[in-house]
Amino acid sequence: MNIILLGAPGSGKGTQATRIAEKYSLTHISTGDIFRENIKNQTGLGIIAKTYIDEGHLVPDDLTIRMVEERLSRPDCANGVLLDGFPRTISQAEALEKFAKIDYVINLEVSADRIVKRVIGRRSCLACGGTFHIDFIGDTKVCPTCGKELYHRADDNEETVTERLAVYNAQTRPLADFYLGKGLLVNIDGDKDIEDIFGDIVKAVEND
Ligand code: AP5
Repeated sequence: MNIILLGAPGSGKGTQATRIAEKYSLTHISTGDIFRENIKNQTGLGIIAKTYIDEGHLVPDDLTIRMVEERLSRPDCANGVLLDGFPRTISQAEALEKFAKIDYVINLEVSADRIVKRVIGRRSCLACGGTFHIDFIGDTKVCPTCGKELYHRADDNEETVTERLAVYNAQTRPLADFYLGKGLLVNIDGDKDIEDIFGDIVKAVEND
């Protein structure tokens, strides 16, 4: 089974992706995480990606598509993947159709004011990929899951989030209609509690 998670920045894609991937034994592929890993290791891809990400813009389609196609060709993707943050443009979605068959597109719908609050208060762990909110963990610098250091993403500030939301509305939101037309879209209310959202996703997938 191959699943795409769609949703605005901070809509909870990463949070739900971990749970869905574990439940259905899927390989979780987050393009944002791959870019951040490349930025940390100062690879050529990372150096280019950083200039776009820091501004809240999308990394160019050709680079992103090549990166995802290569990642999906690896053996750990053979039994199914959960795509978190890809595709983000119609061009990426059309390219994806040439190298993967998608079973569900889960679209997390969250109001804009919640998104800004969620993103600004987010703390992330590069070691285990966990994301947390200061409302729940306070000002600790230690990852509650693996004990490594938490960090505040450079693009998690109000100015960049506002730009990321504008980019999302212009370039990524149209994907909901694209996948609705293909009969693959499942809309999920992302304003609920984390475990309630996960329950709704499981119901949608298993009652299909
Ligand atoms: P990426 O890392 O994918 O960022 P994003 O889409 O902006 O999504 P986020 O990671 O910000 O949020 P999320 O939806 O995963 O929310 P989370 O679960 O953490 O991409 C970063 C950048 O890379 C992009 O801006 C772009 O430049 C580039 N990029 C990536 N993919 C690309 C592509 N395909 N093409 C081109 N460029 C690309 O939750 C957020 C917070 O809310 C957390 O603190 C969490 O604890 C909390 N939370 C989650 N759910 C709930 C809930 N239900 N209730 C309360 N709090 C919650």
